[in-house]
Amino acid sequence: MQEVGGNGTVSWIGEGSLVAVADQHPEQGSKTAHGLDGPIIFAAPQPKSGKYADDFQPMKPIQMVDLLGQYEKIKPEVDAAIAEVVRSTAFINGPEVKAFEKELAEFLGVKHVVACANGTDALQIAMMALGLKPGDEVITASFTFVATVEVLALLGLVPVFADVLPGTFNLDPADVARKVTPRTKAIVPVHLFGQPADMDAITAVAREYNLFVVEDNAQAIGANHSGANGTRKAGAIGDIGTTSFFPSKNLGCFGDGGALFTNDDELAKKVRMVCNHGSDVRYYHETVGVNSRLDSMQAAILRIKLRHLNAYAKARNAAAAVYDNAFADIAELSTPARSSFANHVFHQYTLKVAGGSEKRDALKKHLEANGVPAMVYYPVPCHLQNAYKSARFAAGSLPVTEQLTHEVLSLPMSTELDEQQLNHITATVKNYFK
Ligand SMILES: Cc1ncc(COP(=O)(O)O)c(C=O)c1O
Repeated sequence: MQEVGGNGTVSWIGEGSLVAVADQHPEQGSKTAHGLDGPIIFAAPQPKSGKYADDFQPMKPIQMVDLLGQYEKIKPEVDAAIAEVVRSTAFINGPEVKAFEKELAEFLGVKHVVACANGTDALQIAMMALGLKPGDEVITASFTFVATVEVLALLGLVPVFADVLPGTFNLDPADVARKVTPRTKAIVPVHLFGQPADMDAITAVAREYNLFVVEDNAQAIGANHSGANGTRKAGAIGDIGTTSFFPSKNLGCFGDGGALFTNDDELAKKVRMVCNHGSDVRYYHETVGVNSRLDSMQAAILRIKLRHLNAYAKARNAAAAVYDNAFADIAELSTPARSSFANHVFHQYTLKVAGGSEKRDALKKHLEANGVPAMVYYPVPCHLQNAYKSARFAAGSLPVTEQLTHEVLSLPMSTELDEQQLNHITATVKNYFK
């Protein structure tokens, strides 16, 4: 393989178009091209013959998440499971859903799993099952996907934002404690980007003030948290946990899906009732509920993918280690901090770029111009979104959160990133800082 800009491999995108060119290919005599700026392509034909022909493999286009590549590896199992659901016609509340709930409960080490339609519903159902009432305050992060805050607003609950820690992006327990008032009823830690929040410290605040803990575990399914009660799975530590099976999640289905987890028998019963129009016995409704179901097809797919979840986390960690090593010496970049009490399952690999949003956005542009997608999760914190602005949480009220929105940049992260792609991504980043 040829070197590119000192450290990458020669990479091809699409049909015979060269992404980055070697100093001098002995047979092609291609022009030197240091730095990966500018248009992606050099019009150099892919060698079809000669002694170097076998060295040149077209690079798979890089995506933030490679869902097709992942599916192709488990295609026979998945296709057979889908065909079986179709054959059974048990599309709703079929045995696949029950089996998936049981298997996920075993995996998480939790007594009850109740599947539902998506991760946003799961959060809403959790709040309803806990009996939270309009006006009750719920402390959560502003540096998160909006779903967490949206469901609070829909139920008339009052979102109270705590700041996050600059290293892990997770809730700062000290700020959570500062935000407690007599109206506070619950804390919602979000295990952001695949790493659990500090559940011991958050649980201590909850105990002191008698608050519920609802873990939003949409991004960290399978991660472990080692705390006062031993090592437990993220989402299975608080009173109730929720997740999303959105396709790009670490455990994703082929549509929408979600689930709730709890060790509390009574709460599990209420959750099931709320999911099912507030009903336990058909056509008798005890409480106001919603219609939120995981369908059998998704459950069948999730049962297969659950068996691979630990291997998927390993693959994500391997990609993260390549990134960590490659960027260790770049002073302008901070690689993701790891907590001592948890492991990371890298739903996202998120860098911090020093120098503010201009610098960060310029790097993003450079990456995209060279065939590397990158995303800003999240460009605007919830407390500054038009829908959720309030006088209490004006600009400047959550300094770490606000700073992060100007610095973060997530690189491609999936179970399918190969060496060639990782070389191209890291070389492209490094070239930018040369
Ligand atoms: C932290 C967080 N919470 C909740 C959700 C909502 O999940 P869903 O899209 O399945 O409704 C997501 C999904 O993106 C999320 O990332």
